[in-house]
Amino acid sequence: IVILKDSAEVAAYGANIFIKQLQKKANSVLGLATGSTPVSLYRGLIEACDAKLISFKDVTSFNLDEYLGLKGTHPQSYRYFMNEQLFNHIDIIKAQTYVPPGDAENPLEACVGYEEKIKAAGGIDIQLLGIGRNGHIGFNEPSSGLMSRTRVKTLTKATIEDNARFFRDDEYQPHLSITMGIGTILDAKKVVLLATGENKADAILATVEGPLMAACPASALQLHTDAVLVIDEAAASKL
Ligand code: GLP
Repeated sequence: IVILKDSAEVAAYGANIFIKQLQKKANSVLGLATGSTPVSLYRGLIEACDAKLISFKDVTSFNLDEYLGLKGTHPQSYRYFMNEQLFNHIDIIKAQTYVPPGDAENPLEACVGYEEKIKAAGGIDIQLLGIGRNGHIGFNEPSSGLMSRTRVKTLTKATIEDNARFFRDDEYQPHLSITMGIGTILDAKKVVLLATGENKADAILATVEGPLMAACPASALQLHTDAVLVIDEAAASKL
């Protein structure tokens, strides 16, 4: 657990972990996340790519989750978010960036296919995570099976409310998602979770000091042998 002063320090520290990873292994398989927390980290990676400190041309990426029912062209889709926040600004080959298909005709098959693609790529070297106020990682809401794989998951009322700020009042907000499972996340060789702000303090407390339990999906990271939590003082305030 790395406790830093503020969100800027958290982003810089997190970006550095990814920069080092890419300098060590140019063809890394990265697990990526959405939400507001990783945005500054992505900015750090874009700057490092501009400065030619790293290149993404041999990188493959897998995102954690996607809303079910949104096409990748929808501004609230996580595919759109990733293009806007990262992929459009780096030298990554778009065909090597994977986000669960929110518009899949057969979502259940698509989940199995996503797992197969991760496996075929050789597994995830380093997985970036944010955390929900209720302790969710990806869209693995409380009660998610700790060994779960990529699947369709219903969002909780709390998560729908938390994410409503991104949707216009007249816009359809999905209640379902496709998300990597907790077991999928635990298979990554390294996991880096970022959390900032006081509203994440309870979730961080439960993740770090609570029992291992499905009621706090992030507590499953206690089982991982190389998991780093990079958090600011506010998120650490209840530890
Ligand atoms: C969404 C995503 C999560 C993310 C969470 C927290 O629900 N599915 O992967 O960690 O939001 O988002 P934020 O970083 O904006 O607090």
